[in-house]
This record gives sequence, C-alpha cells and structure tokens, in this order.
Amino acid sequence: MIPLSVPNFEGNEQKYVQDAVGQGWVSTGGAYVDKLESVISSYSGSVGAVACQSGTAALHMALVECGVGMDDIVLVPTLTFIAAVNPVRYQMATPIFIDCDDSLCMDVDKLRRFCEEECRMEDGILFYCATNQAVKAVIVVHVFGNMADMESIMSIAATYHLRVIEDATEALGTKCEYGRYEGKMAGTIGDFGAFSFNGNKIITTGGGGMIVSQNTRALKHLKYMSTQCKDDPHFYIHDEVGFNYRMTNVQAAIGVAQMEELEEFIGRKNRNYEYYHELLDGCEKGYLLSFREHTRSNKWFYSFVLNRDICRQNIRTYIDQLQEQGIQTRPIWGLIHEQKPYLNYKAYEIDKAKYYSERIINLPCSTNLTHEEIKTVCDALKGL
Ligand SMILES: Cc1ncc(COP(=O)(O)O)c(C=O)c1O
Repeated sequence: MIPLSVPNFEGNEQKYVQDAVGQGWVSTGGAYVDKLESVISSYSGSVGAVACQSGTAALHMALVECGVGMDDIVLVPTLTFIAAVNPVRYQMATPIFIDCDDSLCMDVDKLRRFCEEECRMEDGILFYCATNQAVKAVIVVHVFGNMADMESIMSIAATYHLRVIEDATEALGTKCEYGRYEGKMAGTIGDFGAFSFNGNKIITTGGGGMIVSQNTRALKHLKYMSTQCKDDPHFYIHDEVGFNYRMTNVQAAIGVAQMEELEEFIGRKNRNYEYYHELLDGCEKGYLLSFREHTRSNKWFYSFVLNRDICRQNIRTYIDQLQEQGIQTRPIWGLIHEQKPYLNYKAYEIDKAKYYSERIINLPCSTNLTHEEIKTVCDALKGL
C-alpha cells in the first residue's frame, strides 16, 4: 500500500516523549511546550507563539482576539477544510464565501470586488449593504502549502479596515520570496497565523496547533485565554470566559523533535514533487498543479488536475481504481458553501473553486515516499 500521507518519526520523537513522561510532565505545562513555542516563533520570525490543542482551536482564538462576535461578517474561502470556517460559527458570526484562484488560495480580485461593490464604508467600518452587518475580518488559507497573494490581501485589508487571520495550517515553512513581504513566512504577515500539527501535516504532534503573531500583548492574552483565563493560579479567579485549548507537554515533545526535521522534510517534499512533475510531464490524463511563483513552498500536498470534464462521481471511480492497485489518494474537499450548515450563507461569484473541486485528486506525498513508489503512482495515473 502506498499511503496518502503518513507521519515520519525518524528523529528524536521517542527520546523526547520518554523524557517528558519520565519527568511526569504529561499535561498542559512543561518545558517542551515552552520550547516548541520558542522554536516555532524563531523559525517563523514572529515575536511569539502560543501552543494549543489543534489548528481549529488556534483559529477560534484568533477570531476571538480579533473581536469577531455575534452577527459580524468574516470573509472566508469555500475551497478549504471546513475547520477554517466552523470557528466563525462558534462565535455566532456570519461567513461569506469567496472564490479561489489557480493557486487554490483566495481570489484577491473577487475579494476586492466584493468589498468595493457589495459593501460600504461608514465611520471606518465596512458594512455589507444587503444586511447592514459589519465585515470584520478575512480568513486566508494557504492551501496545500501554497501561499496566497498576501501583498494584495494586506492592501485590501488596509483599505477596508479588515483584520487578517492566516490559516497556515498546511503551510509551515512556506516563504514569500518577492515583493514587500520577501523573506516572510506564511502565517506571519496578517494579524494572526494558525498552524495545525495533526497527523497528516508536514510536522505532527499527534494533534495540536499554534498561533503566531507580531503582537506581544495579543499573544499574552491568547495564552491566558487558552488556559481558562486564569487570573490567579491559587485561588481560581477568572475575569473572562476562557478555553481549555492548551497543548500537552507530551505532544510538544513530539513537536520539538519534528521541528528538528522540518527543513529536511521540506527538501524531500520538494524533490518528490519535482520527480512527479518529470514523470507526469505530457500526461494526457491531467497535470500536476504548480505552486505560486517566487515562493519557497513546503509542497505539502500534490494535486493532480484531471483534464477531462468529469464530475465528482468519476473521481470516486478513479480513486477506487487506484486503491485497488494499492495507491491511496483522495478528492479535494466538498465546497463549504454547499455543505448543509452553510447553505444559507452568501457565496460570492464561486467559479474556480467548483472547477477544481470536480477535477483534483491528491496524490501520495509522505516524506518517506520512494522514487519507485512515485513511478508506480504515475504509471497507474496514466493507465486510468
Ligand atoms: C486548512 C485547514 N484549516 C484548519 C485545519 C484544522 O486543524 P486541526 O485538525 O489541527 O484542528 C486543517 C487541518 O486539519 C486544515 O487543513
């Protein structure tokens, strides 16, 4: 079996976990949590980082920190994992769905047009004309390790006074290599960046997440929020409603070991992507989706775009055929504005997201994938 994406524990994971367990620090405090926060913060170039239970928890707390509350509007992608949008509803706020571009990240022209043509500015606040709700924030997802056009997004956000949350859960290590944000990592350009370390991400802690920011005061508050807003450690005084969103020391121990391997993982992901590219060049069934130019992508997930006009049902047949040959693949996510909990929310000019959602098959991309396995996958794709 060639799996889609499995974790790679070739480093110090067992050693650090044994150390944490041996010392009895298995819960939400401990040296590995502090260490992982400081490693991620210095790797990403943020002033600090707050470890949490999951990427979803990170996104939820980022929304709270941005002041998003009941009936506020948050602009979100429709082509992404649903965890990027659910936290908007946890806050009883309203998502409005924006299309993607050919990188699968948010279409900045449509984002701008929505703000320009469907909204108005009043006293420095953007209002959605149809409902008079305030538009507070935008959640930008760096899909599959790609990088959204952050220069345009930040300029739109500045014009319309929007807070920017980067869902960089899939893009740890992806870096901008041109323009205003040259050298900046995904997740460090907007107000907050969220990462996930669940089992299929480029590094894993089993389950876990992290928020980064350049705002020290906000980071301090996020940490406080993640620990039930405990104001006094001895007398259980809580001045705000908090969450139990902390990462455990055992998870962090795995994370510290994984971070030691991250650049090696990115190198392997890039080399494997290049090999897929070489073998699939000229393939009449489809092509490998490329990553945005002038970025150093972590190339987390590889997307094969089928040439033929085929519906999701056909994709299922292809995926089953590949599975029978021992190759695990998957379709891209169902569009969120078409999911039951979101049918009544506005979706603005969705076009490319639909196109790609009907044509993409994600290919095996584990960091320990061999060239022989990549050749097997490519031969199977050509034979579909
Ligand atoms: C784009 C995106 N956002 C959010 C998440 C949520 O992360 P987690 O599973 O750690 O809650 C994931 C991953 O699962 C994701 O891919």
